[in-house]
Amino acid sequence: MNTVKGIVLAVSSALFVLPMAASAYDKGDILVKFGAASVSPESSSDNINNYIGASVGADDEVQLGVSGTYMVSDRLGLELLAATPFSHDLDGKGTLSGTDIGSIKHLPPTLSAQYYFMGSKSKFKPYVGAGVNYTVFFDEEVASPLNQAYNDLELDDSVGLSAQVGFDYQFNKKWMLNASAMYIDIDTTATLSSDDPSNPDLVVDYDLDPMVYRLNVGFTF
Ligand code: NI
Repeated sequence: MNTVKGIVLAVSSALFVLPMAASAYDKGDILVKFGAASVSPESSSDNINNYIGASVGADDEVQLGVSGTYMVSDRLGLELLAATPFSHDLDGKGTLSGTDIGSIKHLPPTLSAQYYFMGSKSKFKPYVGAGVNYTVFFDEEVASPLNQAYNDLELDDSVGLSAQVGFDYQFNKKWMLNASAMYIDIDTTATLSSDDPSNPDLVVDYDLDPMVYRLNVGFTF
């Protein structure tokens, strides 16, 4: 009896422990996730000065996203998100509807704390996160025919908060599938300027405030 009881105990504790051992995140683990990252700007802006009812919007863009997560504990991770540069066309809204304003590129590196609230016992690991984003705009170009009047477009850097939800699904101890949705507060000021001093600058406060959707393959080491 003692032997049977011992085996049952051993098997049941193994069954309890094995799934954990097969899929648990441990303190010190590094999760690397890479795949498609889609940036969908919500794009609200104030009116451009001088143009009542004229504002600015931007289109969607998909790029390669890569993130690394360092597990501070089995439930808490620190994630750094990077991506290849996103480019967006800016177009006029309101009374400037149909007008090409220009194009921009940006990099949205984001540092987030992620909390795996169900712990790490299951293969399905949902999480919530919050973080800080730093966005740099570059390669700003003024579209034709606006570039006949304005030769320079500048967008200020943005520092803002981010929030995300997502999940990892582990195929095995090494590989996982990941999906996430992140909201980033990206607020900037766009300035169109001219070498011609008789041409006043056009300034607009512009909120990209995008949703970033990611679908990734990931691995743990
Ligand atoms: Ni905003």
